[in-house]
Amino acid sequence: MDRRRALGFLAAGFSALAPPVGAEGAGIERAIRSSGERLAPLGLGTWLTFDVSDAGQRRARGEILREFFDLGGRLVDSSPMYGASEETIGAAMPANAARLFSASKVWTVGALAGRRQLENSRALWRVKRFDLLQVHNLLDWETHLATLRRMKDEGRVRYIGVTTSHGRRHDLAEKIMREEKIDFVQFTYNVNDRSAEPLFAVAADRGIAVIVNRPFDGGGLFGAKTAKPLPGWGAELGCSTWAGGFLKFVLSQPAATCAIPATSKLAHLRENMRAMAGPLPDATMRTRIVADYLRA
Ligand SMILES: NC(=O)c1ccc[n+]([C@@H]2O[C@H](COP(=O)([O-])OP(=O)(O)OC[C@H]3O[C@@H](n4cnc5c(N)ncnc54)[C@H](OP(=O)(O)O)[C@@H]3O)[C@@H](O)[C@H]2O)c1
Repeated sequence: MDRRRALGFLAAGFSALAPPVGAEGAGIERAIRSSGERLAPLGLGTWLTFDVSDAGQRRARGEILREFFDLGGRLVDSSPMYGASEETIGAAMPANAARLFSASKVWTVGALAGRRQLENSRALWRVKRFDLLQVHNLLDWETHLATLRRMKDEGRVRYIGVTTSHGRRHDLAEKIMREEKIDFVQFTYNVNDRSAEPLFAVAADRGIAVIVNRPFDGGGLFGAKTAKPLPGWGAELGCSTWAGGFLKFVLSQPAATCAIPATSKLAHLRENMRAMAGPLPDATMRTRIVADYLRA
């Protein structure tokens, strides 16, 4: 595919919502709708993969972070729910993290417990303040959203939002998106679980940035199907592996701001970050990707 056609794909895959700034190589940054600040469209998840406490394993996660920032990544997502992950992030953060966009969550019941947990997370990450704080899985969301709103007013966090996953409670997530003032929402979306598709339109309508979790369905997308050769669309998209196709499928949603695949392996990180380069699928190719995957 030549560069002109590649740009055509990009234009088809995005709308004025998220104009691409670079078709190839540089990464395609997307705007946070509430501020206009731009973010690389691939972030890093840390559930399970960063839940380690052994010094050698922590050093290895430091290498993952270093490579992630070198390759243009910014948003790192974690939560007090993820065991030792926040401590690992703080301990392993490399020197090239100047552009870190720190995103954690509150996951408890009650205002005081929430405030204590948020302060503990901040200390574990070793950051002055978080860029983004979200209410994890909508737990006690009214209480915590009030706390987060106050923190934002006081300049103690830059953006706030809520998360869900696994297709759960989309009705409540939509109600919050429509009725509350939030900057971000996070939910699950991948070729195997497309139940959140209607929420992209709500986010676009309400000016809310979207973080997509579980872009590989928690790793469940890999296995016998992905052992089969990549169909023809792989070459058209500049992907050599199914992982790239899966990520480009997610990123071709115009209202998706950032997808956050998790990995413990440098080779996988490099492979995943390559999905920021080259063309994105249009509507026809998106349908082919899903059909080819389900049939594989
Ligand atoms: N409610 C919430 O707020 C919520 C819920 C779920 C998830 N999240 C966030 O979203 C992040 C992502 O979701 P997730 O961790 O559940 O699942 P995921 O990112 O969909 O999948 C992660 C799995 O995929 C594997 N993987 C990554 N890159 C690969 C590649 N190129 N080839 C083959 N395998 C690859 C990883 O194994 P390797 O280590 O071997 O690479 C890991 O087992 C989480 O880490 C978390 O930060 C938030």
